Amino acid sequence: MYPWDANGEFMTKKWILVTGGSKRIGAEIICLFHKNNFNTIIHCNSSMDDAKRLSDKLNTQRSDSSFYVQANLNSIEGVNRLAEEAQKITSELNVLVNNASTFYPTPIADVNETDWDNLINPNFKAPLFLTQKLIKLMTAHDSSIINIVDIHSQRPLKNHLIYGPAKAALAMLTRSMAKDFAPRIRVNGISPGAILWPDQDVSDNTKESIIKQIPIGRCGEPADIAKTALFLYESSYITGQIIAVDGGRSIGW
Ligand SMILES: NC(=O)c1ccc[n+]([C@@H]2O[C@H](COP(=O)([O-])OP(=O)(O)OC[C@H]3O[C@@H](n4cnc5c(N)ncnc54)[C@H](OP(=O)(O)O)[C@@H]3O)[C@@H](O)[C@H]2O)c1
Repeated sequence: MYPWDANGEFMTKKWILVTGGSKRIGAEIICLFHKNNFNTIIHCNSSMDDAKRLSDKLNTQRSDSSFYVQANLNSIEGVNRLAEEAQKITSELNVLVNNASTFYPTPIADVNETDWDNLINPNFKAPLFLTQKLIKLMTAHDSSIINIVDIHSQRPLKNHLIYGPAKAALAMLTRSMAKDFAPRIRVNGISPGAILWPDQDVSDNTKESIIKQIPIGRCGEPADIAKTALFLYESSYITGQIIAVDGGRSIGW
C-alpha cells in the first residue's frame, strides 16, 4: 500500500477527492494529482463507466491508487453517501476539489423550483455539506479545499438567473471557509473562463463571439485548471483566493 520513493524513503500517500471527476476538467485534475503521487477518489453521478475506466487506468499505473464512488449530489442523502464511502476508502484526505456542477439557462419566464434545486444543490449546497462531512478526514497540516467557481460568479451570464448566483455563493463560501478553517486547512477557488464548451449545443456564432472577448484569443484547456489546482495545493501561504483562469477575459469584457 505505501511504496518507497526513488531514494528508498518511506512515503505516506496523500489523498485527493474530486467531485464530478470522471471526465472533462475533473478528470484532468485527478490525473495530474495522480501523476504527482496522490491516491485518488473519483466521484461521479451518471458517468460510472467513465469513472471506472479512469480508475482502472490509474490502478494499472499504480495498484490500489484509485477508487470511484457514485452519488447524486442533488440530494443530501447523496452527499452523505459520498462522504461515507470516502471514509471507507481512506482515513485521511489532503485535498477536496468541489468541481461537480450543473449548468443551463433559466430565463425568468420559465424558471421554477426544480431548476433552483438542480442548480443550487450541486453548485453550492453540496460543497458546503460535503466539506462538513469530510473535514474530519482533513487532519494533515496544510490540507486544501479547492472550489471550482466560474468567472460568471462576478459578471452575469444572460438568462442564467440561478447558475451565476449559485457560483457567486460558492465564491463567498470559499472565502468564508478560508477564514473559519485557517490555519490548518486552506480554502481557495478557481474561476475558469471558456475551457470546454458545454455538452449542450453551442452555436458557432456564440463560440466566435466568446473567443473575441478573450485577450489570449483562444479557449483554455482542462490542463490549465488542473495546473492551477496543483499550484494552489502547493502554495502554503495562499488561502481565501479565487484565481481566474480565463485567458484574460475578465480583465474587460
Ligand atoms: N467547462 C468550462 O469551460 C467551464 C467554464 C466555467 C466554469 N466551469 C466550472 O468548472 C467545473 C468543471 O467544468 P466541466 O465543464 O468539466 O463540468 P461539467 O462537465 O459540466 O460537470 C462536471 C460533472 O459534474 C457532475 N454532476 C452534475 N450534476 C451532478 C449531480 N447532481 N450529482 C453529482 N454530480 C453531478 C457530472 O458527473 P456525471 O457525469 O458523473 O453525472 C459531471 O461530469 C464546473 O464546476 C464548472 O462550473 C467550467
